[in-house]
Amino acid sequence: MEKLRTAARMAHIEPFEVMEIQTLAREVEAAGHDVIHLEIGEPDFRTPQPVVDAAKRALDEHRMYYTSALGLPALREAIAGFYATQHGITVPASRIVVTAGSSAALLLAFGVLLDEGDEVLLADPGYPCNRHFVRTLGAVPRGIAVGPQSRYQLTAELARRHWSERTRMVMVASPANPTGTLVTAEETTALAALAREKGGTLLMDEIYQGLTYGVEAETAVAQGEDVWVVNSFSKYFQMTGWRLGWLVAPPQLVRKVETLAQNLFISPSAVAQHAALACFTPETLAITEQRRAELDQRRRYLVPALESLGFKVPVVPQGAFYIYADCSAIAADSFTFARRILTEAHVAVTPGKDFGANQPERHIRIAYTQPVARLEEAVARIRQLIERKA
Ligand SMILES: Cc1ncc(COP(=O)(O)O)c(C=O)c1O
Repeated sequence: MEKLRTAARMAHIEPFEVMEIQTLAREVEAAGHDVIHLEIGEPDFRTPQPVVDAAKRALDEHRMYYTSALGLPALREAIAGFYATQHGITVPASRIVVTAGSSAALLLAFGVLLDEGDEVLLADPGYPCNRHFVRTLGAVPRGIAVGPQSRYQLTAELARRHWSERTRMVMVASPANPTGTLVTAEETTALAALAREKGGTLLMDEIYQGLTYGVEAETAVAQGEDVWVVNSFSKYFQMTGWRLGWLVAPPQLVRKVETLAQNLFISPSAVAQHAALACFTPETLAITEQRRAELDQRRRYLVPALESLGFKVPVVPQGAFYIYADCSAIAADSFTFARRILTEAHVAVTPGKDFGANQPERHIRIAYTQPVARLEEAVARIRQLIERKA
């Protein structure tokens, strides 16, 4: 068949491995097997009922027209109010841009800030889409290998060492995907100071904000108006499929973000925005907090259970809902191992390959997105597989 031409950039865009695993998992299910899904980044919880009810009401009461590219004013105010009540920080609603998931927020931030050839420093392992956003814009992601010694986070010291003439930005995530570790407030201050000193930008991904265990959720919004912060309704509010997030941008650049958002997206989903107005109510927050406690219980079960199977978890995750486990004592290659776990034990997990080039073959990511009883079953199945192999 004739080869159809695509842009050269497509050579650098790799598949999102977790989606590939999910497709494979559906095939295993179609063959009649019960698959335990611990691969994808969304827990089993439904969107909180008050949010669903608000969406239903909005469909009856409002015309679902395009909204402002910046989002509904009432939602921007509600988000600003959330920063005030949760963190004691005053952020004017005018700095908040509502987006189609944090994915759109990331694209807008990169789009406003990066020229072709500009470099972005990122932690490796890290969330794969970030490097692909950067590449799509013709800029260059520089993955920096991080490990247990810095709790898998990019530190100011590491960023300084790798900062080059072409570096424009350093990006960190707290809590991080795939490792679930946090950036401390001191480290965020040091990263913001480094970005200022170099005339660059600190971009903080806080999409798992709120999902922390035993530590208070912090925000880089407190670090100054020049720090860009991305957040989402996807994870803490369990609204992955609604596609809604937000960006906190420097006041002087909101107009630029708006201009790009108008062109790329016109506006975020109207119904999702009306629904999200119910997120910050005491009713919804009571539900999300109860779910956070449930996730913590799962985490407390799964970390030692994995260790008992021979996995290593050098840094106990304190946030998100992921465990990035070293499987090198059990398997030579995490990619083959993840496929075996799926096809033979019917448990879907994500191989390290998705998260960068820093020893991906030694790691798998397990998302504790199922109730403890299902996690127990998954552990029992993996144990059987390992014992069978031995
Ligand atoms: C670290 C990180 N950033 C961004 C996203 C994108 O999420 P969304 O577009 O649903 O807000 C994800 C999704 O898993 C993620 O893990």
